[in-house]
Amino acid sequence: MPSRDAAHDHAATPSAWRIVVWLGCGYVAMTLLVALLPSRSTGIGPASPAVAAGAKVWRSENCLACHAIYGLGGHLGPDLTNTVSRLGADGVAAKVAAGGARMPPFALGQEAAANLVAWLAYIDATGVYPLPRHFSPGYGDTR
Ligand code: HEC
Repeated sequence: MPSRDAAHDHAATPSAWRIVVWLGCGYVAMTLLVALLPSRSTGIGPASPAVAAGAKVWRSENCLACHAIYGLGGHLGPDLTNTVSRLGADGVAAKVAAGGARMPPFALGQEAAANLVAWLAYIDATGVYPLPRHFSPGYGDTR
């Protein structure tokens, strides 16, 4: 009879069931803890559509060939992690449009240029590079 077998199994292994129940409670408790604790993020939200579009411009124009983000990328030009803090959004847009001594000018159009700057501003808000004091000069910072 199935009901008697089930009762028998349960009676024979009470500690195994207890372990399963405790593990289940632990799982639920940890899930709630992780969900409810304040996260230690930078406070920036998910990328907006403009930021996502700007990342595509960054890739398609191959800025990374000459510029790094957090020290990773090309080193012909300066690291651009915090370029928006340094130059301001308008300054970055002007630099991209005008180019420079060893940087070609980019005729991106107003929307793509604005998206690109929005993406660089988003990157800027994620942190500081190179880290002040700890590693100086920053890896690959050749200026
Ligand atoms: C062929 C290499 C090259 C490419 C490609 C390139 N840059 Fe540059 N960029 C430079 C160099 C070199 C400088 C340093 C100043 C100069 O030469 O005028 C510079 C300077 C800059 C600056 C000023 C940074 C500062 O702190 O003064 C910004 C902003 C910038 N580039 C953005 C971009 C963006 C965005 C792209 C892609 C659309 C890009 N660059 C593509 C070489 C490049």
